[in-house]
Amino acid sequence: MSLNPIERQRAKIETQTAIDAASLGLVRGILDDAAWSRAIADALASAYLRDDDPRWQSGFDGDSQLWRDARELILAPVHRDGTFLDIGCATGYLMECLQSWAVERGRRLSMFGLELSSALVATARRRLPGSADQIFEGNVLDWSPPHRFTFVHTGLEYVPAARRPSLVRRLVDHFVEPNGRLIAGPVDGADLATTIEAFERAEAGRETSKRTDRNGKTRHVVWCST
Ligand SMILES: C[S@@+](CC[C@H](N)C(=O)[O-])C[C@H]1O[C@@H](n2cnc3c(N)ncnc32)[C@H](O)[C@@H]1O
Repeated sequence: MSLNPIERQRAKIETQTAIDAASLGLVRGILDDAAWSRAIADALASAYLRDDDPRWQSGFDGDSQLWRDARELILAPVHRDGTFLDIGCATGYLMECLQSWAVERGRRLSMFGLELSSALVATARRRLPGSADQIFEGNVLDWSPPHRFTFVHTGLEYVPAARRPSLVRRLVDHFVEPNGRLIAGPVDGADLATTIEAFERAEAGRETSKRTDRNGKTRHVVWCST
């Protein structure tokens, strides 16, 4: 099952329209935070599951080198072996890739995922049967982890803007092991300042790493140590 470029473009527009409608509903008080994130996850899942390409199912439309340029940056703060939680893991492809890219750097990571969409969780568990019990279903807004992780990776856009500093604080306080790291992103230059601001308002400390792909697009991750 694969979408042609026009169908992909149409899927992106439909998804963005659904996300914009949910965000308007949040501003108008029609949706609460949980319903807003559910609407977004449902819109993303609907688009992702129309194509078997694992990069597309991770919200990325590009070839394998561009994918690696866009995502390997997440390993920049990975300074030791340990456990790694990908919040918003979709169908688990980033988990797989980070694990094998980490091996190339001499690091061993045991991968975990958290995903809000039950359809994406089911697909991830089918794709990665050996990790099925390490893929959790839940909303990062209120999910409690069964244990801490050495590394926690998230997108701050999974919660409304006003809740991003408290998300950073909660992840640092309750999800990340001592001598671990919280990693947010990748974000482009336009979203870097607000991501840094969320870390600063959470009083979490912050470092940044960046990588530029062959098309000249630069992405950043923001991270802090515990
Ligand atoms: C762009 S994909 C990221 C996939 C992968 N982590 C990566 O970076 O390649 C975002 C995923 O986050 C999930 N998601 C969105 N809001 C969430 C929330 N509040 N809690 C858990 N997952 C969420 C979506 O359903 C979607 O699968």
